[in-house]
Amino acid sequence: MSVNLAVVGATGAVGRIVLEQLALRKLPINRLKLLASQRSVGKEVRFADETLKVQLLEPDAFQGIDIVVASTPDEVSAEFASWATDAGAVVVDESGYWRMDPKVPLVIPEVNPEAIHDHQGIIASPNCSTTQMVVALAALHRHCPVRRVVVSTYQATSGAGLAGNEELYDSTRSALTGKTHPAKTFQYPIAFNLIPQIGSEKEAGYTSEEMKMVYETRKIMGDDDIVVCPTCVRVPVTIGHSESILVETADPISVDKARELFAAAPGVTLVDDLDNKQYPMPQDCEGKDDVFVGRVRKDLSSPNGLAFWCVSDNLRKGAATNAVQIAELLIQKLAAASS
Ligand SMILES: NC(=O)c1ccc[n+]([C@@H]2O[C@H](COP(=O)([O-])OP(=O)(O)OC[C@H]3O[C@@H](n4cnc5c(N)ncnc54)[C@H](OP(=O)(O)O)[C@@H]3O)[C@@H](O)[C@H]2O)c1
Repeated sequence: MSVNLAVVGATGAVGRIVLEQLALRKLPINRLKLLASQRSVGKEVRFADETLKVQLLEPDAFQGIDIVVASTPDEVSAEFASWATDAGAVVVDESGYWRMDPKVPLVIPEVNPEAIHDHQGIIASPNCSTTQMVVALAALHRHCPVRRVVVSTYQATSGAGLAGNEELYDSTRSALTGKTHPAKTFQYPIAFNLIPQIGSEKEAGYTSEEMKMVYETRKIMGDDDIVVCPTCVRVPVTIGHSESILVETADPISVDKARELFAAAPGVTLVDDLDNKQYPMPQDCEGKDDVFVGRVRKDLSSPNGLAFWCVSDNLRKGAATNAVQIAELLIQKLAAASS
């Protein structure tokens, strides 16, 4: 069985990796349509052995399309999703707009694949910092319920799209020549700096990015009793989000058991040998699809607590890979229904 597939936001940081993933994972695509804004219409993009032209995202762009993989700003997703669903397509959306809508499943295929069956035309892919944390936490949660999480993130500039990385390069070049590059994408110059604000102020002193980690974690793990205290920080790294995670479970889990659970979990690679300086770092995780876990140890401040370090390529498992995996599940479902 093959499908007609549209990639919306095909020219962006995530959209480019979506195309890479579609080719790499050999999705059975009959017709592929690339959509973006007026700025990109007519741009040529390579896909497998073909050169495709970017077309305009407009209301009648989805005729004959079965599945849409979309990575655009929230307000664009809010507008175009009904154009696609009215034309009969299923939208896999990477933006934040639909994630907490009760009618929209929020899916990580390694964690809650069954949720795709309840969709009404739109399936959301979670925020990048949430996805990698939840893939790792789920390994423990399946063994013993997770009760409390304290997470500090170290998030790459590509999390803010192509403009984020450009600003890191420009800001670094300026700083090296003694100049200040005006910050546009970020709140302050990002070169040689850390910025403890991602997103806007949301509630109780937390940012929108931080509250995504609170609410999305509960929705994906299907457990509203999980409490999460996040601090999200932008760092001058181009690709790969890192997270320091403290987790409390209902009963204690030993370090050896936690390592065993991480090593066996789908989508997780354990890199944990401090004596030999082996732990995950963004440079090693770039271009890889897994979530990498290391530095697993007891939380010295809590009897039921574990501490660990978690790194993942935000453009891959944090975005494109997860969305393409959801598209694969949809194709399997369509194939099963037609056989
Ligand atoms: N970057 C990450 O790590 C990450 C992770 C998870 C989720 N996400 C989410 O994924 C989405 C895209 O992020 P990104 O990092 O890829 O951003 P990006 O690099 O800025 O790309 C944005 C894409 O959206 C398109 N677009 C913007 N306005 C449009 C409009 N009015 N009509 C049609 N297309 C439009 C752009 O097309 P043009 O080239 O024509 O402007 C571009 O293809 C965002 O919602 C983001 O929150 C990102």
